[in-house]
Amino acid sequence: MATARFDSKDIRRIGMYTSGGDAPGMNAALRAATRMCLHRGLDVVGIRSGYNGMMSGDFTPLTRGSMANVIQRGGTILKTGRSAAFMKPEGRAEAARQLKNHGIDALVCIGGDGSFRGAHALWEEQRIPVVGVPGTIDNDIFGTDSTIGFDTAVNIALEAIDRIRDTAASHDRLFIVEVMGRDSGFIALDVGLGGGAEEIFTPENPVVIETVVDRIKASIAKGKLSSILVAAEGQKPGRAYDLAEAIRKKSGFDAKVCILGHIQRGGSPTAADRVLASRLSAFAVEKLIEGHCDCMAATQAGENALVPFEVTLAQKKPLRRELLKLANILAT
Ligand code: F6P
Repeated sequence: MATARFDSKDIRRIGMYTSGGDAPGMNAALRAATRMCLHRGLDVVGIRSGYNGMMSGDFTPLTRGSMANVIQRGGTILKTGRSAAFMKPEGRAEAARQLKNHGIDALVCIGGDGSFRGAHALWEEQRIPVVGVPGTIDNDIFGTDSTIGFDTAVNIALEAIDRIRDTAASHDRLFIVEVMGRDSGFIALDVGLGGGAEEIFTPENPVVIETVVDRIKASIAKGKLSSILVAAEGQKPGRAYDLAEAIRKKSGFDAKVCILGHIQRGGSPTAADRVLASRLSAFAVEKLIEGHCDCMAATQAGENALVPFEVTLAQKKPLRRELLKLANILAT
């Protein structure tokens, strides 16, 4: 499917915003998009607090200087948010009015699938051209190898697991470490495989508690007295406590729970996330200038690619089940 096109020869001013959950690398993405715009002779406006700021006209000019000393910073200097009002057509009409009043011709949206849904509607209803840059720790965006923030989140969680393993081994304990991932198990899978977890729970691949208990018992019989189980939070942060209770009921084993939560979203982005953010944002601006819109800047097998929002929003990124299997084989 080809991307939507608009007449870009007269664009002068580009607006950019971060939206949804913050992700390490968002600032590197803002920096790259801003500086690429300036390099191409365009004005840049930052929109604060995502769609809420777009609707209220909370705009600020961005310069080379505003992007100094931000590449290494976590969070987002423009702030972010999730907006219920923008989900309604009236909210989007108000946002379009504000953008027009401020002479903003096109947008770069840094966020996840909810943010892209809003951007897609903005194009469909108001003909505001947007190119998206995938920024979410969850890595659950179809059509791109990875999302900005995922690598950092995985590395933060891995460091935590390595520490927990010291206690698990010293006390012969069973631990359940809960990582983020509302609807997806990408963080859990990489953290589990990279951290040598004995079991990985993901929303995509529900496991039967009896099977888990049998595997833990088999491990103990072989002399492996401590185990780390990694669980994606799924729909409900704190789900690890339910898992611990289910394991206790079935086996009598007492599993300690550690919920990593928002710790995974903070801190300085890894090199991989900074490079990805710089590449994708600069590419997004170049493609906007060429007149592409209503699409996401992505990498596919390492190469830059444009994916129409309609395509990315219609599909769920598949979890590589063979890696789950591999983690099980390697842990036994
Ligand atoms: O989308 C990223 C994410 O961190 C999810 O993994 C998590 O479920 C959710 O955001 C938490 O959102 P909030 O910070 O708004 O509680």
